[in-house]
Order: sequence, then C-alpha cells, then structure tokens
Amino acid sequence: MKTKVKVIVPATSANCGPGFDVLGAACNLYNEFTYELTKRGFELEVKGEGCERLQASGKNLAFSSFFRLWNELTDRRCTGLKVTMHNRIPLSRGLGSSSTAIVAGLMAANFLTGSTLTKEQLVDYATEIEGHPDNVAPALLGGFTVSYMAYGKANSLRFLPARELRFIAAVPEEPLSTFKARQAIPETVSHKDAVFNAGRSALLVGALLTGEYKYLPDAMEDRLHQPYRMPLINGTQAVFKAAKNAGAYGAIISGAGSTLMAYASPKADCEAIGQAMQQAFAKAGQKSVYHILKLDTEGARTVNN
Ligand code: HSE
Repeated sequence: MKTKVKVIVPATSANCGPGFDVLGAACNLYNEFTYELTKRGFELEVKGEGCERLQASGKNLAFSSFFRLWNELTDRRCTGLKVTMHNRIPLSRGLGSSSTAIVAGLMAANFLTGSTLTKEQLVDYATEIEGHPDNVAPALLGGFTVSYMAYGKANSLRFLPARELRFIAAVPEEPLSTFKARQAIPETVSHKDAVFNAGRSALLVGALLTGEYKYLPDAMEDRLHQPYRMPLINGTQAVFKAAKNAGAYGAIISGAGSTLMAYASPKADCEAIGQAMQQAFAKAGQKSVYHILKLDTEGARTVNN
C-alpha cells in the first residue's frame, strides 16, 4: 500500500482575456506538495509563498480536497496526514495558487487509493470545489484549455498552440481577492458586448491553433470582466500599453488579478517587456516583480519516490 506521494502542480492564468470562466493556460511556475499518510493527525509544513498564513485544518484546500476524494474512493480510515508544501506561486494574484492546492489534494488521494480516476475525471471534482473550471483544468491537464459545463459536469478540451509563446507576468505587491474581483462584475451585459467577447474568444483559440499570431492583439481584448476590474488594479491601462509598446502582442488581467500578463513571441525582448510593465506599475505607485514564463504542457504530475 502506497503511503507517500509528491505532486507538482503548475501555475495557471485563467480567462486569457476574453474567455471569462472558460479559457485557461498552464505556466512553468510550480508548487510542490508531499502527502504522507501517518498516525499523528493533521500536520502541515509550508515553505515559500503563504508560509505565514497557511494552517493545517479541514478548511485548508490541500486537506479538504484530499478528503473529498479519499472518502469517496476508499473505506480505509485515515488517522493522520502530513502535507508539506513548497509554494512558488504568490497567493491572491490571479496565478491559480488555490487551484494548485485543490488539484494536489485530488491527485494525491487518487494516487494513494490506486489511481482509479483519470485527470479528465478529476477536472469535475476540482471544479466542484473551486466553483469554476478555468484554473483547475489547465492545472491538471497542462497547455491551454477550453472548459465548459454540460449536464452538471465540467469538461475541458486541452490544446497546444501551433507556435511557442512567452508569458510575461507582472505581479504587483498588492493582492486582490477573487471574491472582490467577481463582485465588481455586473450581473448582466449588453448583447453587443456578449457578441464582442464571443468573437474575441473564438478568434483567440483560432489564432493559437493556427499560429496566426497577428490576430492576438485584437483577440486578447475583453468587455466582460476586465473593464470592471481595472479600477481595482492601479495602473492596468498603463501596464497594458507599456507591454505592447515594448513588443508584446497584448496583455490581459491574469485570472481575477492582480497579476497582469503579456503574451509575446519568444523572439521578442521579454526582459524589456517585463521592465516596461514594472516601470508602468511603479508610476502608478505599485511595486512589482515580473516572471518570464512558458506554457506548461504536462499539467499536474505525481512523483513517487
Ligand atoms: N475566471 C475566474 C475569474 C478566475 O476571473 O473570476 C479566477 O479564479
């Protein structure tokens, strides 16, 4: 019987601009989790991001997601669980840090009970816990994902773009809660704006699949959530403009924010784009760091040694 497993889960950037609650991408920045069955109750050790805030409890997503699946898959009593986290993804910045904990718990429970479920099946469990599928799907499957609900279940189409991209993630010091960022969005939008976003989302997927990246600047536009969230992230317009002027195809609010993310060609001067975004944030009174990231194509994986 297996008693210990390590799970590596990538950061994710949801929405990708116009694909609100639908599109997502996995990036090569990772949180690592080790799950060990013990006889000593709940224990948690955290290194890195969030180490001062996170506690071992039934409310911690890394534990609750584990037991959500463990209790469904086995009758074995779990008398103790030690979770060790090494977090590199900043919390509450729109890079899917909470999704990594949900996905890690589900992957670990599945593995330690005999790996009966596929990652595609885990997308639905993870969505039930997270509330929307656009972070958990790429965190599990890697690549870009188009997620949707059908007959009460979350499904996801994973795909890889025809040509490489770089993501330049400018992460401001100020976090933004997803709850607050979702409250800023109106209940209803005009038909015109809905059509605008349907067109932009379709164009974005088409541009990525064909490698026709000349369409990306238009395809990354959004009218469903970004205009309402911009006032919550100081400097957004200026950072978007700075990224484009420095050679990016375009920039978006990553997930619910507060990270702003530019998409660029691997041939672009990504350092210059990152610095331009950082300077624009600084002019708006926000300190920030930037990461130059690639697409993660594998998604969450277990390492058993
Ligand atoms: N689609 C979600 C949102 C992602 O934009 O609110 C954040 O979890």
